[in-house]
Amino acid sequence: MKTAVNIGSLQLKNPILTASGTFGNGHEFIDYMNLNSIGGFCSKGLSMEPRGGNPEPRIVETASGMLNSIGLENGGAKAFLNEVLPQVSDYDTAVIVNIYAHSMAEFVELVRYLEQSDRIDGYEMNLSCPNVAEGGAAFGSDAAVVAKLTQAARNETKKPLIIKLSPNVTDVREMAKAAQGAGADAVSLINTLIGTAIDREKRRFILARKVGGLSGPAIKPVALKMVWDTVQAVDIPVIGIGGIVSFEDVLDFLIVGATAVQIGSGNFINPALAQECAHSLETYLEERNETIDQLIGSIRS
Ligand SMILES: Cc1cc2nc3c(=O)[nH]c(=O)nc-3n(C[C@H](O)[C@H](O)[C@H](O)COP(=O)(O)O)c2cc1C
Repeated sequence: MKTAVNIGSLQLKNPILTASGTFGNGHEFIDYMNLNSIGGFCSKGLSMEPRGGNPEPRIVETASGMLNSIGLENGGAKAFLNEVLPQVSDYDTAVIVNIYAHSMAEFVELVRYLEQSDRIDGYEMNLSCPNVAEGGAAFGSDAAVVAKLTQAARNETKKPLIIKLSPNVTDVREMAKAAQGAGADAVSLINTLIGTAIDREKRRFILARKVGGLSGPAIKPVALKMVWDTVQAVDIPVIGIGGIVSFEDVLDFLIVGATAVQIGSGNFINPALAQECAHSLETYLEERNETIDQLIGSIRS
């Protein structure tokens, strides 16, 4: 396959993935696109136990983007294996499970539990959530913690392990290096930037939780820069995420060196966007008689 890329031991038929929390658990999009057309999808953030989300309002549109404070609502690991996975098991696309927990022990328990499934092709560890045991700071803002958590998950699985990094740090490269040093197969970035929005008539915050994660085209320049920085800092594949709403956006991330990309908020505007990007990539490479390896990292100066 001309568009195939590798993430550790996982070969993706093309570098187009969809981002966690913006693509349900895959099956919700079956009526809008052909799941077989994309390299894979990242599940909605999954925890060991079912979790309710944050109070509403928890989504607000902003200039060229949106803020969300969904709160990682999900049905838990047991329901995921028994009810969700069977709905996508016949599709020829990678299933990457996005996992989160509030302690190292919980992460370990979750990976250990999910290992019983053959349909899971890899894990993406979301380190943007608060570390409850350590006072609530995000796991992903401390390189030593990133290394410890990566190592703990690595000990539980031989499947591809992707560490998803937060942009809300001083230097994302330090976090990426820590993940690589502890055995991660890849890093993905960026998760959302923290922001807020107010209702000036009522003089209140719009989101019930006051703050949320900013995503969409507004964050693309920040994401592109962080991906480019990270590509130069590590040897493992970097998966680019942030503000992709067109095939041209996909190209930008690949050109600065991302091995694959994830489409997030763009799915809300056009639920067939990922499929369209995968198709456009094939045509683009054919027309230029270029290989995917030549395209990735082809930025000159
Ligand atoms: C509604 C919503 C829910 C999200 N849920 C998750 C999640 O459960 N786990 C996670 O790692 N990222 C989650 N994200 C972050 C996205 O996966 C992605 O990193 C971010 O939105 C930036 O990409 P985008 O600008 O293309 O949307 C969520 C984003 C949105 C908009």
